[in-house]
Amino acid sequence: MAGTVGAVRAVPGPRLAVAGRGAAAEALARRLGVPLVRAADPEAVDFVLVYEDGGLGIRPAAAGGSGVVRVDLVAGRAGARRRAASRGTELIARAVGIGRGVTTVVDATAGLGRDAFVLAALGAQVIALERSAVIAALLADGLCRAALDPATGPIVPARLRLVVADARRWLEGLAARDRPDAVYLDPMFPPRRKTARVKKELELVQALVGTDDPEAGELLAIARAAARRRVVVKRPVHAPPLAPGASATCRGRTTRFDVYLS
Ligand SMILES: C[S@@+](CC[C@H](N)C(=O)[O-])C[C@H]1O[C@@H](n2cnc3c(N)ncnc32)[C@H](O)[C@@H]1O
Repeated sequence: MAGTVGAVRAVPGPRLAVAGRGAAAEALARRLGVPLVRAADPEAVDFVLVYEDGGLGIRPAAAGGSGVVRVDLVAGRAGARRRAASRGTELIARAVGIGRGVTTVVDATAGLGRDAFVLAALGAQVIALERSAVIAALLADGLCRAALDPATGPIVPARLRLVVADARRWLEGLAARDRPDAVYLDPMFPPRRKTARVKKELELVQALVGTDDPEAGELLAIARAAARRRVVVKRPVHAPPLAPGASATCRGRTTRFDVYLS
């Protein structure tokens, strides 16, 4: 399901280790180029990746087992969102145009896969691109578990596929016949206030890839050249647009989706 295309960004970031034993842990440590340890020493490591409860998770090494983040697309918030989701109620589906001519979507900033999964659950064929090898490993593991569950098995992998790549290079390399109807972007954006309470998942993503995404403007320009119909950019509701020229905006309480028509 997961593949590697082109060079994946090497982010100078937190110190990582994989904790545990067994073939999966060994292979992950080798793939990510991080140490394999029995138990993470908080003096030497910031975050530790662990296989436990049947899946891959990551937690701060100092947390002593608490604060694990994993991708769960079956239960919890993602499950509730999937069960409640409809093309009418999900702002993202309206912005992307699911059910109104858009069937193929590239999510060029997949992260932990929540938006890509909603788009796929609502019927789109989605290719999710993620350049952080660590985040992609967490997402690939969550997708594998979703593929095995009767509720989400029809969605993954039939309608959602992960590719580990920098979206700029991947989109530039697309053949004309493979251009998607829409490209969806949710780049990192600095929190409004330093004191803002950010959710555990967001905090983790920020620690791994940074709070800002200085190349997002370049990615938008490349996405506009690649998409047949539209590019949709998710922004905090207060944030300036990533670029001028949006044709429409779907506004929610805390986020909005700027639509750039091709
Ligand atoms: C805010 S998160 C996306 C969250 C996601 N929409 C979700 O539902 O979980 C942004 C992600 O985009 C990734 N990203 C940013 N620029 C990218 C690029 N050029 N190619 C691939 N991934 C990129 C970052 O590594 C990060 O994981």
